[in-house]
Amino acid sequence: MYREIAKGVYWVGAVDWNVRNFHGYVTKFGTTYNAYLVKSEKTVLVDTVKEGFEDELFAKLDELNVNSLDFLVINHVEMDHAGSVKAVLERYPEVKIVTNVRGKAGLKDAYNVEHETLIVKTGDRLEVGKTLMFIEMPMIHWPDSMATYVADDKILMPNDAFGEHFASQRRFDDEFDDEEIGIIFRENAKYYANIILLYSKQVKRILEQLSLMGLEIETIAPSHGIVWRKRIPEILKKYKNWSEGIAEKRIVIAYDTMWKHTERALEDVIDGIESVGVDYVKYKLTVSDFTEVMTDVMLSKGLIIGSPTLNREMFPTVASFITYMKGLRPFNKIAGAFGSYGWSGEAVKYIVDVFNTLNFKVAGSVRFKFSHEKSSQELFDLGKKVAELVEEE
Ligand code: FEO
Repeated sequence: MYREIAKGVYWVGAVDWNVRNFHGYVTKFGTTYNAYLVKSEKTVLVDTVKEGFEDELFAKLDELNVNSLDFLVINHVEMDHAGSVKAVLERYPEVKIVTNVRGKAGLKDAYNVEHETLIVKTGDRLEVGKTLMFIEMPMIHWPDSMATYVADDKILMPNDAFGEHFASQRRFDDEFDDEEIGIIFRENAKYYANIILLYSKQVKRILEQLSLMGLEIETIAPSHGIVWRKRIPEILKKYKNWSEGIAEKRIVIAYDTMWKHTERALEDVIDGIESVGVDYVKYKLTVSDFTEVMTDVMLSKGLIIGSPTLNREMFPTVASFITYMKGLRPFNKIAGAFGSYGWSGEAVKYIVDVFNTLNFKVAGSVRFKFSHEKSSQELFDLGKKVAELVEEE
């Protein structure tokens, strides 16, 4: 069933209740592929849905008696939003595509779609009975990413930005209680940490641009999850904080262990943290969802990583997480590293190298041969030092 967002503006997307892995991202609550219909003097579809969900989209368009489409706005060419573009063009061959220059290239490259297209750029308007305005948002999170603004109803449709992977038949933030909204905000942070964090500079710039453009925003209708209309200042503030690297006074401990030497050493590090009284969360990487760990890394000021050395390298799960984290470029962190070794002991140095690459403030590092007892004080001091710096910042 479609949902009315404003008079003549409808949600016509699809709910994917069962997806649990979204190109490696664990989607424990499923997701939605939100598409929107603007029905005025002209009929405009904003985005499509993932391939395989087009029947859900078309059923809603049929309910709304959409027999022909004037425009198809492509805000983003990624497969979860433009995956049904060919099916839409087949059903509505008369439609004209509206996208930016990179979107047009993406449609050709990804789908071999070459169709009559109106190219738009930031500030361009399209009169369809209502006024649509376009805002390019390059690298939030693909080169082609763009927002569509329905000026008459003050609705921003920013595609992936401000969205989260969360399946529900309810569409609006005011349809959820505070506890549920807490879960949704966590999923929203998870989306930012795992998809958008790398592009925080662009987010900061776009937030400033939206403010400069003086756009009044009463509704934010992203391409995943729920539509924001009650908590807009909160969600804007969160994006502002995350894009500026503002985090909470907490330490993430991410580690793995071979023969429990590194794991036992962690007790001393934690004693050091607790002596200062800073909050922490602890993830053993063998059994952890990296997307959750990454969420806490973004939300926390401190990070301590522990790894034994295996074959002159970091332990594989630690190396894997570090590679994943490095790609997302977290910033403004206070960090420490520790770990056991048998004879060569490179792991801790490699972790610190990555911290330096990311410009983290490195509070210290401790490596110890096999058992940690002889380094007990150093490990305590490491935890204490990271905690003190987190507390001070
Ligand atoms: Fe939800 Fe970048 O696609």
